[in-house]
Amino acid sequence: MELNYKRMKTIAAATWKSPSNIAIIKYWGKKKNQIPENPSLSFTLSKCFTETSVSLVPKETKSDELQLQFYFDKKENIAFRLRLLNFFASIQKDFKFLNDYGLVIHSANSFPHSSGIASSASSYSALAAALCDIETQLSNKKASSEKQLLADAKWIKRTSYFSRIGSGSACRSLFPYASVWGETDAVKNSSDEYGIGAENLLHKDFKTLCDSILIASSREKVVSSRVGHSLMKGHPFAKTRYKQAESNLENLLPALKAGDWETFGNIAENEAMTLHALMMCSNPSFILMNAHTLSMIESIRSFRNSSKIPVYFTLDAGPNVHLLYPKSYAKKVLEFADYELSGLCEDGKMIHDFTGNGIEKVK
Ligand code: PMV
Repeated sequence: MELNYKRMKTIAAATWKSPSNIAIIKYWGKKKNQIPENPSLSFTLSKCFTETSVSLVPKETKSDELQLQFYFDKKENIAFRLRLLNFFASIQKDFKFLNDYGLVIHSANSFPHSSGIASSASSYSALAAALCDIETQLSNKKASSEKQLLADAKWIKRTSYFSRIGSGSACRSLFPYASVWGETDAVKNSSDEYGIGAENLLHKDFKTLCDSILIASSREKVVSSRVGHSLMKGHPFAKTRYKQAESNLENLLPALKAGDWETFGNIAENEAMTLHALMMCSNPSFILMNAHTLSMIESIRSFRNSSKIPVYFTLDAGPNVHLLYPKSYAKKVLEFADYELSGLCEDGKMIHDFTGNGIEKVK
């Protein structure tokens, strides 16, 4: 049914901006309801973000059916709407207002849709923040400021929890600098159900970590993360992998605290290669790197060896390479990237990102 929302009064509204994040310890393999098989740790990015506004409008018909209009980049997007309906079906019992009102959602990314950058972390966290903000407005009968909401530990947990229901890694995008998700003895207050901020675990040099994303291909991912995670069910190396993630995290934590880039970088690369190796020997098998990814990796390692500059890489479940380095070396690394790596990027595309502050309310 087409709803004429333009004529409708807005009951409550909220707009939030949320960044993408890059995992150093990877989440790969999950139990029911996006409960991770192992803890993960990520850095929060800045430039790659989603901005989402949610408006509550009166329902046109009296039924419990969700009424939703979804606009992406100002155009109505039916395919995204259908995906979102599954998310809303799983959270409808938790947000009573979804039964009582219709929703109009506008969303846009700061990065092009076809840049090969996964937007699920930024988009679900921005959406969850807007929904939790509206819920608070309705229960307090007035809007809260960004400061009030971000200082409310329960609100953050709830927002991270519902971000996770949308996409596991989204629950880590809320926090300044870095986040840990997944229960582990190595990190106090860690939980399988939501991410926690990890700023206190970082040496100051890691707070200005740079991440230049080298776009080896902007095509849609060959394997969705849903399929990817499911490949870990019955994977011959699953148990070993989950143990390895725990021990990589245990070894990473002192390095993050000490500002030890070498240990950090070795672990980051080991995690990235493990993720891809797991996919290569899954059943069915997938190769998500392309020839340019491999050339970039070789070039980064050889530049590191010859220059002694602490520049490392990580990979997501796709061919793009994330170049990780301290801000103090940015000038030299960017020269190297322009000279040696841009030719391996699709149309020379690179996004020079860096750590950021997490979710923000947009006025
Ligand atoms: O959040 P998902 O289901 O899209 O899975 C993310 C998986 C990786 O990006 C490969 C790793 C991670 O921890 O972010």
